[in-house]
Amino acid sequence: MDKYVIRGGHPLTGTVDISGAKNAVVAILPATVLANGVCRIENIPNIADVATALEILASLGAMVRRIDRHTVEIDSRTIVTQTVPHDLAKKMRASYYFIGALLGRFGKASVPMPGGCYFGVRPIDQHLKGFSCLGAKVMPMKNGMIDAQADQLQGSSVYLDMVSVGATVNIMLAAVCAEGTTVIENAAKEPHIVDLANFLNSMGADIRGAGTDVIKIYGVERLYGTTYSIIPDQIEAGTYMAAAVATGGDVTVCNVIPKHLESITAKLQEMGAEIEEFDEEIRVSASGRLSHCNVKTMPHPGFPTDMQPQIAVLLSLAEGTSIINEGVWENRFRYVDELRRMGADIQVDGKLAVVQGIPQLTAAPVKAMDLRAGAAMVIAALAAKGVTEIEEIQYIERGYEDIVEKLQKLGAVIERVTEDDPGLQQAL
Ligand code: UD1
Repeated sequence: MDKYVIRGGHPLTGTVDISGAKNAVVAILPATVLANGVCRIENIPNIADVATALEILASLGAMVRRIDRHTVEIDSRTIVTQTVPHDLAKKMRASYYFIGALLGRFGKASVPMPGGCYFGVRPIDQHLKGFSCLGAKVMPMKNGMIDAQADQLQGSSVYLDMVSVGATVNIMLAAVCAEGTTVIENAAKEPHIVDLANFLNSMGADIRGAGTDVIKIYGVERLYGTTYSIIPDQIEAGTYMAAAVATGGDVTVCNVIPKHLESITAKLQEMGAEIEEFDEEIRVSASGRLSHCNVKTMPHPGFPTDMQPQIAVLLSLAEGTSIINEGVWENRFRYVDELRRMGADIQVDGKLAVVQGIPQLTAAPVKAMDLRAGAAMVIAALAAKGVTEIEEIQYIERGYEDIVEKLQKLGAVIERVTEDDPGLQQAL
């Protein structure tokens, strides 16, 4: 039971380097299954979800070689099974990308229902519909396993009933070596969709239109090994930007693609933050009380739902009343009870939250309810008066590389401690 112990009230200053994107790498690692050769992936974030994805690849029989902390080589020519083990699949949501990848390469896949953060029901009907459209036979679920098979996948037209990142990824993976052309309509447009398409194209795929809502995939016979560098993490960058603003700091967030951050930048400016954009950096500073604003989360290029808990912390500290409208998930306000412990004044009604700003949050023992909710607790603790302890940090470490060290470098007073560590009380 490890915890973060944070003494709030120190403005963050300096520079922080953003790691490779979690949601890109968790799609690209399964995609290496499709290669007839060695894939070298660079700028890999050192996070728990990557470790799990690599363990899954190794369990299938792929040769996985860590070159250094951020580079890995995968040779999937040695894969011997198409079944993903339960204990690994339940550790992460994106384990279901192995369905599309294994189906695309071997014409069969047996993958347990995935784990990951709970935001209410997370159906996968659109993924399964996509596989069926390509001619796969998807069996009724048995013992929590999803089984799919196809003699030869056939390109087809797939219309997604709602914009789904996961379904877009899974259908791309299955379709890339199918016979003929697949068209995904109402496709997701997130930066990690484009990154996956670029990766697959560098392996010899022919995918066009990624980043728009119509993606065309011209099936090819074989994919080859490649060398590829993962894009920077949009949400990690947004999280440090929000932390800078919450503490009234001045932080330059390095190794980012500013275009990916536009919706976040716009909201922070609306709240009164100063933002300067450079080619691969963004400088964020804030002073004085923030202004209230309304936020609606939407698929890209809208405001990302994965930044909703972090922006809620800022709105909790802003002058006046703000409304948050969660437009993607049915239940993404579970962190609000934790934030209330720190004094936040937030009322939730279904997918709406009404935030009445207060001048100061106060320290309290809180939990990370999920990955981004945990990041929000860290931001709240950095801004709060007093010493906050955050439990359940394993959620945070699924997606944030070296968060403690990166924050310490920015001047935050934060320690990672083990609960029975006698040094806990003296940690700060
Ligand atoms: C991905 C991200 C997650 C982010 C989310 C929305 C990864 C690994 N995770 O999750 O961090 O919060 O996008 O940006 O990239 N839906 C269905 N049926 C389906 C699929 C989805 O009804 O078959 C619904 C979901 O319940 C949700 C909405 O569609 O309401 C969007 O979900 P989706 O984009 O698929 O999210 P994930 O890919 O799971």
